[in-house]
Amino acid sequence: MKSFWNRKEKPYVLVVFLLPFLWMFCSLFLGKYFPDPGKLLMRLSGIWACVFMAGALSVTPLMTFQRFKILARYRRFTGLAAFFYSVLHLIIYLVLFAGLSWTWIRSDLVEKPYIYAGVLALVILLLLAVTSTKPMMKRLGRNWKRLHRFIYLAALAIIAHLWWQVKSDTSLAIIFSSVLGGLLAYRLVTHSKRLRRLYSS
Ligand code: HEM
Repeated sequence: MKSFWNRKEKPYVLVVFLLPFLWMFCSLFLGKYFPDPGKLLMRLSGIWACVFMAGALSVTPLMTFQRFKILARYRRFTGLAAFFYSVLHLIIYLVLFAGLSWTWIRSDLVEKPYIYAGVLALVILLLLAVTSTKPMMKRLGRNWKRLHRFIYLAALAIIAHLWWQVKSDTSLAIIFSSVLGGLLAYRLVTHSKRLRRLYSS
């Protein structure tokens, strides 16, 4: 996969990807509208991680249209942004929720098993982030593509993470499982079509 980065546009793209982060930071000062800033930051970081994950997964289907081919140059950055907001989500959990107490985390894990699904997604995103560099792509060769298909397993883990924690408001779970599930279904359909063509020729 080629990178078409134009060095001049890099800082602008970086700013766009960091806007949600700034917005999250500003929301801390709106304490009177949001009585529990920890919960708000946790939610916002999780939502933006999902948005960027969906963005990274949408690039391939969108590239079937000529006018969207340009998106290829932002795919890696979008994936890294998903990883960045997921790490932020974890840091907020460890610091603002758990107060860095391992005992607290241990009992929370018993109460909220959906955290394991989040951890699985984060570990996959970490693997994909560290192997997203050009030297790593070269080193892994054909296995690089195979490894990066794990993004679909991460998407499934996130769908589980969201549904498992639903209490009454199902809106986020419905939105992201439709988007991520739709992208996953698209991938399965195109992959099985390709296999059928391969075996019939
Ligand atoms: C180590 C990894 C993770 C941990 C420990 C974790 C933990 C949590 C916890 C405790 C909540 C509930 C917060 C609350 O009670 O308000 C939550 C919510 C959420 N998480 Fe995670 N999570 C992890 C990974 C992820 C990842 C990788 C994503 C997305 C790519 C994600 C997306 C979300 C979203 C969108 C919510 C909000 C759900 C809602 O408010 O309905 N999480 N997470």
